[in-house]
Formats: sequence, C-alpha cells, structure tokens
Amino acid sequence: MTDAQRLIAEAATAAEQSYSPYSHYRVGAVVVTSDGVEYRGCNVENAAYGASICAEANAITNAAAHGVRSIDTVAVTCLDGAACSPCGNCRQIMREFGVRRVILTDDAGDPVEYALDELLPRSFGPEDLE
Ligand code: THU
Repeated sequence: MTDAQRLIAEAATAAEQSYSPYSHYRVGAVVVTSDGVEYRGCNVENAAYGASICAEANAITNAAAHGVRSIDTVAVTCLDGAACSPCGNCRQIMREFGVRRVILTDDAGDPVEYALDELLPRSFGPEDLE
C-alpha cells in the first residue's frame, strides 16, 4: 500500500463519523502536519445548512486547535456517490496553513495527487499581509 492509499484509507475511517443527515454524503479528511502528525475530520451538517462544516475544514481546525500551524498534506474521500473535490472555502483554509499536497480519489477510489497551487492558482495568503 502506498502512503497516498494509506491516507485515503484513514480519511475513509474519518468519514465513518460523518454527521450528514441532510446530504447523506459522508466525507472524511486527514491532514499530515509538517512534523508528520495526523489529524482527522469529517463533515458535520446543520439544519441551517449554511452552518455545516466540511471534512477538510474540520480536520484542519482540529489540527490548529492542537497548536498546528503548518500542514503538508490533506487527503479527502467520500463514502457515498461521486468522488469529492474540496470546495473553494476549504481550498482557502488549506492555503492558510501552507498545504502543499492534496490527495483526492478518482471514480475507482484510487488516490490522485494535486499541488494546492493547481487547485487554487494565484491565491491570496498570509504572506500577502506581511
Ligand atoms: N463536503 C465536504 O465535507 N468536503 C468536500 O470536499 C465536499 C463537500 C460536504 C459538505 C456537505 O456536508 C456535504 O459534503 C454535501 O455537500
């Protein structure tokens, strides 16, 4: 098993905790910090739909709440339906913590790696306010 496959499997485990009674679309994410520590997250929905939290945002804020400020990799997978791709808001949240590599899955469930630069070109980030 490759590292990317292992991280997608971790994300799938995280997705088992998804609270998604409205979409029934269970998403999980795992982040790997620059120090190699991993944190998980899942999507957590709300009756007021706009208050829902994506799996990626949950995993990243979970890491941040543990003091993490630098994240290398985010892996994301969904247990239901089509392969998922991070929303624009989550791409920006990844940008804040320096994410370099994003691992998604293709329709067969196999890992596909992207640079965050590909997913969020010409982005705005913390350096721009220095
Ligand atoms: N969702 C995520 O958690 N991450 C993604 O990458 C795509 C979408 C969630 C948000 C919502 O709970 C459900 O999937 C349907 O949009």
